[in-house]
Amino acid sequence: MQSAAASLRAPVRRAAFASARIQRVSLRSSYRRFSTETPPPAPAKSNTALYAGIGALALGGGVAFYLFSNDTLSTTAKSGVQSAKAAVKFTPTKEDYQKVYNKIAEVLNSDESGAYDDGSYGPVLLRLGWHSSGTYDKATGTGGSNYATMRFSPEALHGANNGLHIARGIMEKIKQEFDWISYGDLWTLGGVTAIQEMAGPKIAWRAGRIDGEAKDATPDGRLPDASQGKDHLRDIFYRMGFNDQEIVALSGAHALGRCHPDRSGFDGPWTFSPTTVTNDYFKLLLSEKWVWRKWAGPKQLQDKKTGTLMMLPTDYALVGDKSFKKWVQTYAADEALFFKDFSSVVGRLFELGVPESQFASTEPWYFKTLDEQKA
Ligand code: HEM
Repeated sequence: MQSAAASLRAPVRRAAFASARIQRVSLRSSYRRFSTETPPPAPAKSNTALYAGIGALALGGGVAFYLFSNDTLSTTAKSGVQSAKAAVKFTPTKEDYQKVYNKIAEVLNSDESGAYDDGSYGPVLLRLGWHSSGTYDKATGTGGSNYATMRFSPEALHGANNGLHIARGIMEKIKQEFDWISYGDLWTLGGVTAIQEMAGPKIAWRAGRIDGEAKDATPDGRLPDASQGKDHLRDIFYRMGFNDQEIVALSGAHALGRCHPDRSGFDGPWTFSPTTVTNDYFKLLLSEKWVWRKWAGPKQLQDKKTGTLMMLPTDYALVGDKSFKKWVQTYAADEALFFKDFSSVVGRLFELGVPESQFASTEPWYFKTLDEQKA
């Protein structure tokens, strides 16, 4: 059934393709998938004619360095182009951020993105936006998206962030072209772009995050541990300032993407359409019979019917707790409400840790999707 919100969404470019593809993906051997899913990003192109020559040099060097290093230097090293631009006072407007959005969206819709995982870089970019924000601790005011401290080890090397060097590498190429944007703004805008371009709701977003230093990095253990249960979920998300309803709405992001044994140890997608934002995660949690998977990996559930979908222990905890389950049922029955609540809670998530005075605007900004701009 098509809900009102769903009918307003941008056309789904890959929905049919994705579900066909997922059948194939599940048939592929693990070895094959892992050997093909982490291609080094192709060298980026600079479209700034003025700086084309130097840009190409800086870019080649920057991307290569980024790929082979997970360390501080990779993102703090300044190219000649960056220094030259930084010397010129430039105050970006909302239109400049729309240009960044468009560039990210183009990358998401590129063939390179289409050849990755289930057909999109979108899920891994959203995971980067979330992990850069979800370190927030409201009691101390530390963590959150303000300083983009995942650029620094050891935060880059925290187990929860395994695999996110891929998303940071994709974003690094955007950063080379729009060097004036902070990493925190870039990564959260990447999350917004991913949601909107994967047919999800509009997310309010404002510019204003600044690049921090290694000393601002957060300790390990602030992000959720998928092998735990409801008490852990509440400990982690209450610490950020979220309530039960918001924990459930946020978890709906698992309609997207998949688990990778070489990253988290878990394996498989949650839904049959992992590159389209839907409320299927909630529907499947309720409609399927979930059984513990018998395998050598960490404890996870699989759907009894097809054996191709998965749930993490933390996902399954949402139907084992009365207060959480009420919201799973609500969102399974009403996709428009899920979109509305998901939009507002993700908007808040991405602003965690950013002082209000830093934002460029008091009003929320909404960006147009590529399809809306074409129309
Ligand atoms: C509720 C607690 C959460 C836990 C325990 C959790 C855990 C995980 C794990 C283990 C993975 C697999 C990583 C991999 O192997 O590649 C994953 C993937 C993902 N998570 Fe979460 N997550 C949580 C909440 C969230 C939230 C709040 C969001 C966004 C708002 C989110 C978005 C994603 C996305 C999009 C992916 C797919 C990434 C990809 O396909 O590469 N998750 N999550």
